[in-house]
Amino acid sequence: MGLSRRDLMKKAGMAAMGTGFAGLTLSMANSAIGAGEQTKIPDLPWPYKKLDPAAVAEAAYAGFYKGACSYGVFESIVAPLRKEIGFPYTMMPSTLLVVGQGGVADVASLCGSLNGAASAIFLVTGGMDKKPREAAYAIIQDVFLWYEQTALPDYRPKNPKYEIIKSVSGSNLCHVSVSKWCKASKFKSFSKERSERCGWLTASVAKHTAEALNKYADGAFKMAYPLSAAAQACRSCHDKGSTLENTRGMSDCGGCHFTPSMKQVHPKM
Ligand code: HEC
Ligand code: HEC
Repeated sequence: MGLSRRDLMKKAGMAAMGTGFAGLTLSMANSAIGAGEQTKIPDLPWPYKKLDPAAVAEAAYAGFYKGACSYGVFESIVAPLRKEIGFPYTMMPSTLLVVGQGGVADVASLCGSLNGAASAIFLVTGGMDKKPREAAYAIIQDVFLWYEQTALPDYRPKNPKYEIIKSVSGSNLCHVSVSKWCKASKFKSFSKERSERCGWLTASVAKHTAEALNKYADGAFKMAYPLSAAAQACRSCHDKGSTLENTRGMSDCGGCHFTPSMKQVHPKM
């Protein structure tokens, strides 16, 4: 591979001269390249063009009611790229992301909107090599920490079904995020209102993700939501490179570790 369209056309021209076969035309060279383009899917990252975050948010809200949270975020970013850029986005089966629904297959693990965001971010910034991987992970981590620290949903769709109050999740988990919102709003976790809340949340996460990707495209992305000082302190004794190094985590620790046994081991906390 690595042949440009021009190289290929030159080769085609040379072949035509060498064999004396005048029938190999430019249009044949073009269709030969076209066929190659359709089958060889390029490695990541795929090309990105800056998106309109408000349009992305509205599309994500609509996508939520079609394929749920994870698909909603992912497709709201991929669809305009498919329209603007075409191939290879025409080869991306966004339906794959439906499985992120309700914290992966409705088990309430990682919030689906974050799953969709992480996948979209990785698609346009990540890759197999260390450098793009680290670049993508920095954006993903920043989006996750924004999510856990911010009162959400912070985007109100143009034509909402209900009005929705905000809550702070303190976690990137669907279970915690939904439960805290239910507690704050007094709605049931399988109510239409909770569904609508996750629709707004999907729109909020998609908008924030598009903004982060636009900044990255401008070379202006900076991590803006660092891990809390408390969690950083925990990690200094328990995480990578520490004396204990017996766990790993990049989210707030206190949301889960509030048990009496915790107090005994860490009497000052
Ligand atoms: C100054 C170092 C230090 C800091 C800071 C620290 N820990 Fe620990 N932690 C320890 C040590 C030492 C133990 C006991 C380890 C053992 O017995 O194997 C421990 C034990 C634990 C345990 C297991 C004990 C239990 O049953 O609860 C958990 C969970 C834990 N820490 C979580 C945290 C969290 C969450 C934070 C931040 C809020 C934190 N730690 C901050 C040093 C630290
Ligand atoms: C989503 C909930 C959750 C979050 C967030 C979380 N933990 Fe845990 N952690 C757990 C559970 C559950 C266990 C297993 C506890 C057990 O077996 O008793 C555990 C185990 C641990 C242990 C080992 C405890 C032991 O008995 O030796 C440490 C240390 C620990 N976590 C530290 C942290 C730190 C530091 C953070 C933040 C960076 C953190 N955890 C964030 C849920 C969580």
